This record gives sequence, structure tokens and C-alpha cells, in this order.
Amino acid sequence: MASEIKREAADEAARLASEHGVRPRLVTVLVGDDPASAVYVRNKVRTCEELGLASEHHPLPADTTPARLLEMVAEFNRREDVDGLLVQLPLPQHMDEAAVIEAIDPAKDVDGFHPVNVGRMMQRHPALLPCTPAGVVELLVREGVIIAGARVCVVGRSNIVGRPVAELLLQRDATVTVCHSRTRDLPAVTREADILVVAIGRPGFVRGEHVRPGATVVDVGMNRVTDEGEVAELFGEDAPRRLKALGERGYTLVGDVHPAEVERVAGRLTPVPGGVGLLTVAMLMKNTVEAARRRRGL
Ligand code: GUN
Repeated sequence: MASEIKREAADEAARLASEHGVRPRLVTVLVGDDPASAVYVRNKVRTCEELGLASEHHPLPADTTPARLLEMVAEFNRREDVDGLLVQLPLPQHMDEAAVIEAIDPAKDVDGFHPVNVGRMMQRHPALLPCTPAGVVELLVREGVIIAGARVCVVGRSNIVGRPVAELLLQRDATVTVCHSRTRDLPAVTREADILVVAIGRPGFVRGEHVRPGATVVDVGMNRVTDEGEVAELFGEDAPRRLKALGERGYTLVGDVHPAEVERVAGRLTPVPGGVGLLTVAMLMKNTVEAARRRRGL
């Protein structure tokens, strides 16, 4: 599915190039050296290259001043040839994430994090939509999962995933419940769901008891697990392959859903890795092409 979405973005980019001489350009900024963030940004830049989009990556040291970062954002806002601008999160402690996000030109905010885009989304006006939530919706639609009238449970209430995915599914007429760390009797609530979306950042947190038999489970988590015992407990039959990866790389990626347990109960379950993460990048490509088009009134 991610390949299909990327193909659509590449086709649209090719059309913009041949008909209008426009090559969509994505700028990525990474402050500091968080290894997971470095992997995510590298994937984004590499995917631009694969699809024929222009890209620029700007790595900055962890001790970059907030003023310097804001100056760079202002420069990318000014540049006519820049269509998408993405500052990878999380930022180092000494930076104000909200201030940086608000400094980005909403027309170039391909993450869909700027309050203007969030507000437009909430009011159901055209907007650049956040990539992971939009990817989750796209996944369900293309898979043929019925959203209208379905009971959806979202576990997690972050600005990046939980809140926006709840809103987008509500817009498609789901009955949405948002759960979080203070939810009473979580398994009883999540077991009601036809579609369960989990985005909390805790490896293997959602167990068999949380899932209605036959439910569609979307695992948004991407956690690095380094402990052999934990890996053996999480993966059942798949454990040997995972332990090998752990030996080679020092970690293996685990979602927020316990794979061995939930596989047995769910009707469908997205894998980690190779699931929602791929769709996030595909939707970012789509947003970048879309931004290039809209900025020029094409
Ligand atoms: N950190 C985790 N997810 C994201 C994302 O989608 N965009 C950015 N910029 N940072 C992130």
C-alpha cells in the first residue's frame, strides 16, 4: 500500500515537472543526534530521491541556539523553491517545540503540525494533514475496513497521532473513544472496539485481553527493545529471527501491541516494522507534492 501511495506521489510529481516545470522540494532539519530520529529522517530523504522529488537535509548540532534554528526556518520560508519544511521531533530540551512549529509557513508545513493546519483540519477545511494519522486512515480505507458506524478506540492522546487520528476517523463517521494513562479499566474499553489504534510508545503494552476477537488493530508504536528476555516473551515463534536482529544491531523494533498474543485474537494487525511507519513516509511524499501544487495555485 505504501508503494502504491508513493507511486501516486511520483506520478503527480512527474506531471508537475512536465506540465509546469516544477520539481517539489522537501527540506528536513534534524537537531542533535538521536539515532532513531536520524533513521526516520534518512528514510524521508531517501524516499524523495526514489520518487524524483528534490530534497535537502540540514543536520544541526544539539547545542544549536533556538534563535539560529528560527533563522533557518525563516530562510526556508522565504525560499520560493522550498515546498515542504519538516523539523524532526523531538527537539532538544532547551528548544520550544511549539515556537518552532509556529514559525513554519503553514503552506510548507508538510507535517501538518502548525496550529493553522490543525485548526483547518478540526473545522474540516482543506489542510495539510499530519502524516501518520492520514496514513492510518488511508490504510483502513484501502484495506476496505468499514469506518462509518464502527466503534473505534484510540489509545494515546498525543498531538502527533492520538488526537488527530481520532478526529480524522470521527470525520469518517466512526464512533470514537480516546483512551489514555488515566482511563479506568482500559481492557474493558478497548475490547469494545472494531478498530483499535494504539499510539502510546510502550513496547507490547496492548495484550490479548485488550482486543475484541476479529478486531482490526493498527499498531503505531516504534520502540527499540534491547533485552533478550523481553524479545523472547514478545515474539513467540518469531523470537529466533528477532533475537538474531538484536545480536546484530543491538535492538529490535517493537510496536505498542504484543505481537504474539494479539495476532491470535485480532482479525487484522499491522506489523512493526513494515507497517504504519512506511505509510507515514508515503503520506509525507504526498503532502510535499500537494504543497508544491497548492502553493502555485496548480
Ligand atoms: N517525530 C515523530 N514523528 C514525527 C513526524 O511525523 N514528523 C516529525 N517532524 N517529527 C516526528
